[in-house]
Amino acid sequence: MPTTICVINQKGGCGKSTTCFHLAGALASAGRRTLLLDVDPQGSLSQGFLGSVAVETLPADETMAALFGENRNYRSATQLIRASGFENISLVPANQHLAAFNTPYPEQLGLRQFALREFLSTATDFDVVLIDCPPNLYRCSWSALLAADEVVIPVPPEDFGTQGLVAVHQTIRWAQQLNPELRLLGHLVTRRDQRLLIHRMYEDRIRLLYPDTVLKSVLPEAAAFKVSLAGRTPVEFDQPRSVAAQMTRLLADELLACSAREMDGQTMHTGGLMR
Ligand SMILES: Nc1ncnc2c1ncn2[C@@H]1O[C@H](COP(=O)(O)OP(=O)(O)OP(=O)(O)O)[C@@H](O)[C@H]1O
Ligand SMILES: [Mg+2]
Repeated sequence: MPTTICVINQKGGCGKSTTCFHLAGALASAGRRTLLLDVDPQGSLSQGFLGSVAVETLPADETMAALFGENRNYRSATQLIRASGFENISLVPANQHLAAFNTPYPEQLGLRQFALREFLSTATDFDVVLIDCPPNLYRCSWSALLAADEVVIPVPPEDFGTQGLVAVHQTIRWAQQLNPELRLLGHLVTRRDQRLLIHRMYEDRIRLLYPDTVLKSVLPEAAAFKVSLAGRTPVEFDQPRSVAAQMTRLLADELLACSAREMDGQTMHTGGLMR
């Protein structure tokens, strides 16, 4: 069974989709068969691979929306999972069709809360699944938490708003009541500009606030992430020698080393970082 990692934060623009996009490249290059699930109606992650016009014109039954309807309207996992154009990276895309299903109070949906989890139980040909959540804690994010083994919370080192994080932590605790296996792998400092004193101060603060659950790896603010994304290529393949690519590889290694299911000692980029 793959390790499923939910990338979540209700704060917009903190780097959830960017992390999924480039991390997939690093995982794929380390030989991990990686499945990306886009559960954000904005479809940013899908557009990163497939382009915006192609994603926006996808019919609902070829997207994540097929999982969330009243009656499950997809025949098999293989109908929804598509190639990304890169070896070892597959994708279930999302677009605006998902918006109608991303309702508040998902806990009232009974068994339908588990649609994503049920879907993943049939998608076993992968080593890692990354779920890119929208910037809210509604049904799509909730379903992702119920389907996941691990959670990563991207946090930019400025005004990360403790209130926002408190709500994310509370939602994780609620989800753990239905999915006891769910584990907070860590907060991930994203978009850090090492030159900015304010970023260094916020990073220190978050490491103090959550001493056991901030990943050592950091994703820097880097033009390479944007440029490679615009070229629809994870930075690992587009600019492998860039600092951005190196730091993404360190993140991949750290996640693999921390991940409960990753115990087979496969080759990693640096041999892994233990926490
Ligand atoms: N590490 C980074 N370096 C440079 N630019 C970044 C970085 N991370 C994100 N960005 C840029 O910031 C913007 C928002 O990033 P992204 O879409 O990944 O955030 P998000 O959390 O997924 O947003 P949303 O909450 O809307 O889904 C994008 O334009 C992206 O290119
Ligand atoms: Mg996003």
